[in-house]
Amino acid sequence: MTARLINGKAIAATIHEEVRRGAQDLRARGVIPGLATVLVGDNTASHKYVSMKRKACAEVGIESFHHELPATATQAEVLALVQRLGADRKVHGILVQLPLPKHIDERVILEAVPIGKDVDGFHPLNIGALAMKGREPDFVPCTPAGVIELLDRTGAKIDGADAVVVGRSNIVGMPVALLLIGRNATVTVCHSKTKDLPAMVRRADIVVAAIGKAHFVKADWIRPGATVIDVGTNPVDDPGKPGGKRLVGDVEFEPAKLVAGAITPVPGGVGPMTIAMLMKNTLRSAARARA
Ligand code: GUN
Repeated sequence: MTARLINGKAIAATIHEEVRRGAQDLRARGVIPGLATVLVGDNTASHKYVSMKRKACAEVGIESFHHELPATATQAEVLALVQRLGADRKVHGILVQLPLPKHIDERVILEAVPIGKDVDGFHPLNIGALAMKGREPDFVPCTPAGVIELLDRTGAKIDGADAVVVGRSNIVGMPVALLLIGRNATVTVCHSKTKDLPAMVRRADIVVAAIGKAHFVKADWIRPGATVIDVGTNPVDDPGKPGGKRLVGDVEFEPAKLVAGAITPVPGGVGPMTIAMLMKNTLRSAARARA
């Protein structure tokens, strides 16, 4: 049997439409939702991601305020910009694209984003609330929120499921594990020191692959019928493609498709959801603002 493909692109389009209508209502009340994007340095992937985020803003009716600083910018300059955006009433969300250049302390910058404008959900207070029972973060990080939205909108049962998360990054692995725990899944977080990774993954009703290595999760690790969410976007050589590269996920997709019950493709799975959730978070932040 072949797995059902989870169409992140289509689900993201539905969310964009919901946000577009919400933004229209807000504009009618005199509030123009605004997202500030901060890009430091010349990381090619970051430039591409930020331009996709700004394009999405334009499509859904969110104003974007873009700020680009050179790789040589000092920490004080980046900090001053974030503080200025924090005080700007037209800005309802601030997105500092990661990674920052090595000489800038990411912690200092992310902690300068007011938690009410932390639409990326990376402020330690927001992540802390995610980890605590009975607390609601102001914002949930976009990729993890997108993973849960994909599971919900495709009818996967999270409550009581065995979920295995491969990877423990601050951006994806750890927050997605916290979200799954909050939804009553039994969660195992695996990483490079995990003893028998294939055996761990084989237990899972839900697999979230977020390790950042092309085709790392093998098809014979997947339990038949499991739901597989692939967060990876890894460039691999492909002479047939423009630029000689194509993107693949963390899961060995073609053979895994024959085992899984449902699976996300790369591209077209989780990627579009990250942007959709950013739009949703920004709209929610703007909705709290007064005209
Ligand atoms: N770098 C990789 N993913 C993300 C993300 O979701 N947000 C930001 N700001 N930077 C990233």
